[in-house]
Amino acid sequence: MAVRAGVLGATGAVGQRLIQLLDPHPEFEIAALTASDSSAGKSYRQAAKWRVNSPIPDDVADMTVTATDPDEVPDDVDLIFSSLPSSVGAEVEPGFCEAGYVVSSNSSNGRMDDDIPLVIPEVNPGHIDLLEVQRDERGWDGAMVKNPNCSTITFVPTLAALAEFGLEKVHVSTLQAVSGAGYDGVSSMEIIDNAIPYIGSEEDKLETESRKLLGEFDGAELSHNSMAVSASCNRIPTIDGHLENVWVETEEELTVDAAAEAMREYPSLDLRSSPDPLIHVFEEPDRPQPRMDRTLGDGMAIAAGGLQETPFGLQYNCLAHNTIRGAAGASVLNGELLLEQGYI
Ligand SMILES: NC(=O)c1ccc[n+]([C@@H]2O[C@H](COP(=O)([O-])OP(=O)(O)OC[C@H]3O[C@@H](n4cnc5c(N)ncnc54)[C@H](OP(=O)(O)O)[C@@H]3O)[C@@H](O)[C@H]2O)c1
Repeated sequence: MAVRAGVLGATGAVGQRLIQLLDPHPEFEIAALTASDSSAGKSYRQAAKWRVNSPIPDDVADMTVTATDPDEVPDDVDLIFSSLPSSVGAEVEPGFCEAGYVVSSNSSNGRMDDDIPLVIPEVNPGHIDLLEVQRDERGWDGAMVKNPNCSTITFVPTLAALAEFGLEKVHVSTLQAVSGAGYDGVSSMEIIDNAIPYIGSEEDKLETESRKLLGEFDGAELSHNSMAVSASCNRIPTIDGHLENVWVETEEELTVDAAAEAMREYPSLDLRSSPDPLIHVFEEPDRPQPRMDRTLGDGMAIAAGGLQETPFGLQYNCLAHNTIRGAAGASVLNGELLLEQGYI
């Protein structure tokens, strides 16, 4: 039987992707949709300005959107996918966990809390067991797992593939798509014919989340990776797909061939939304490109290319679809991991 699932923030950019991914998903069934008070009471078709590249699923279009309150969500819902603005997530997500719901969240609130697992299933699946610590400490009947920021998800799997060489210093410079800011995030007057070399709080997220993801969990505590990470974030006028330029300095010598092999052979998982291969390494020097490569692996693969040895270590480019692998697909994958590990 499919797990009954609710979507918080169902009308937004990530919420719509969640609907698109969950509707055909054999393990989950959409049973509740929430958004702001201005959407509550409307049918999903009326409330959501649907912009995803497939029709609104018929059965979802006629569902009624409710306010984002645990009392509005049926008790037989077992799993909640949250794509709320982080200020709203901080206010309401803990209430869902207290009420017994298991929450797989995109929002940045709480990502760096010691007892909240921040998980990319192919990178650090074992961190999910931090939920035992979380339940002890918070006394929740439910639980909270987070996926990282979309630009963190894009480069961390490539670092995980290179970790065996000893990660010392990482520099990453991003070229991020406008959908990463949500539908109302960046006005067309700001971004057309332009690039904006600032995305509020984004650099800190890449620097801190990457160290948490690549840290060690000993069953009681999580220690963060000691590598130094420096990030520079830029918004550019692409719709979907974050492209990133990365330089990695390692303890051991890292050649282009060894790095390409490590990325190509980095294992995928036996979860429905995990693509195989996880990392697609291009030989062509001008790839990956957002428009051409963001849908690799149904939008769940990481693309890499342009590998070269430089005085600042190994340099390469990587790319991921920010609203699929970087957001909605990431939480669905965490939902699959929660199910596989018996947390639902
Ligand atoms: N876009 C990405 O690529 C991306 C990637 C990773 C993580 N994220 C994170 O995912 C979250 C959602 O991002 P988004 O891009 O989907 O944002 P968005 O398009 O602005 O959508 C926000 C959603 O939250 C709802 N909402 C807003 N205020 C609310 C309130 N006070 N109470 C209840 N619901 C409220 C909105 O409902 P209404 O329609 O009723 O206003 C809408 O459903 C954010 O935390 C973001 O940082 C986004």
